[in-house]
Amino acid sequence: MSRVTLSSCPPVTYLENTLKAKIVLLPGDGIGPEVVNEAVRVLDVIAQQGGHTFEYETHLLGGCSIDAHGSSLTDKTLKACQQSNAVLLGAVGGPRWDDPKAKDRPERGLLALRKGLQVFANLRPVKVHPALIDASPLKPEKLRGVDIIVVRELTGGLYFGAKKRESFGGHERAIDTLEYQDYEVQRVVELAFRLAATRRKKVTSVDKANVLESSRLWRQIATCLGEQHNDFTLEHMLVDTAAMRLVTNPAAFDVLVTENMFGDILTDEASVLAGSMGMLPSASLGNGGPGLYEPIHGSAPDIAGKGSANPIGTILSAALLLRYSLKLEPEAQAIEKAVDAVITDGCRTADLGGSLKTTQMTDEIIKRIS
Ligand code: IPM
Ligand code: MG
Repeated sequence: MSRVTLSSCPPVTYLENTLKAKIVLLPGDGIGPEVVNEAVRVLDVIAQQGGHTFEYETHLLGGCSIDAHGSSLTDKTLKACQQSNAVLLGAVGGPRWDDPKAKDRPERGLLALRKGLQVFANLRPVKVHPALIDASPLKPEKLRGVDIIVVRELTGGLYFGAKKRESFGGHERAIDTLEYQDYEVQRVVELAFRLAATRRKKVTSVDKANVLESSRLWRQIATCLGEQHNDFTLEHMLVDTAAMRLVTNPAAFDVLVTENMFGDILTDEASVLAGSMGMLPSASLGNGGPGLYEPIHGSAPDIAGKGSANPIGTILSAALLLRYSLKLEPEAQAIEKAVDAVITDGCRTADLGGSLKTTQMTDEIIKRIS
């Protein structure tokens, strides 16, 4: 079974202390273009301050690509992404492409992109800023000290197993398959341990081993890796229990690693802890290829074009891009500190009960990047 390293891309060129990198932008649909624009403004400030060169190339993905090219992900877009150092994505989807009978859907493009980049681990950090404790419906005492990274397996499981639709005995039958191979589990759980090593050294592996065979394999492999990391705490938790604990005792989690669909559901739930989905970034990493960075929120068609979306999830995704793909840790931290500071200083977009527009929030963040 192969070993895992965090994403880093060979073609980044370093010149003394500066670097030149190619970043593909996939703004997508709805509020996607608005928030990606803001993240680029922040990246430009970082580039200027550090003497780095970021070359951007913009491509279509999702509904806009269906409209323009008849496909949610074209070969050209996938190739451009594969040949980049990192990909920054806004969001895909919208009611206009929601016909269940349509041959292609915006989400299909996103899944094909994840698969095509082989980004098998989706990191979703969830932190609660003290100034946003009241923005969450949970009691303040539950929220203090929450600092979780969910590692969601991203290229296997129910999302990618064989699917079938057929007429059977006068009825319509639909089949989805939940399938995992040992190496797919091993590489993502290993990555969870690697992340936990830089944190509180606690890994919670979430499964449904009391029912699902794929979960029994998952647990077996996690247990085996746990034995190789005996200075770590490894706990196994059933997904239904995990869903409950995320709201009853969220501060107890450090790194949570789980199957694709469980991770999709649990991270929407966990986003409630942070006060707004608009705050949360994600990084999807593979084994050395370009990483894919996107906010966890969707395309929010109801507010698209109004300039009122919260850009923080995408700006923090750009910080993760600097950290994991370009190895620019101080620059990543500069963005994260500036975001912390704007929240402390009371800057709020509409999702957080405020009135700042998307670009004004970015202006405030840029002012605080030192
Ligand atoms: C996410 C989204 C996607 C997913 C959709 C848009 C296909 O919900 O990134 O969490 O289910 O992975
Ligand atoms: Mg989701």
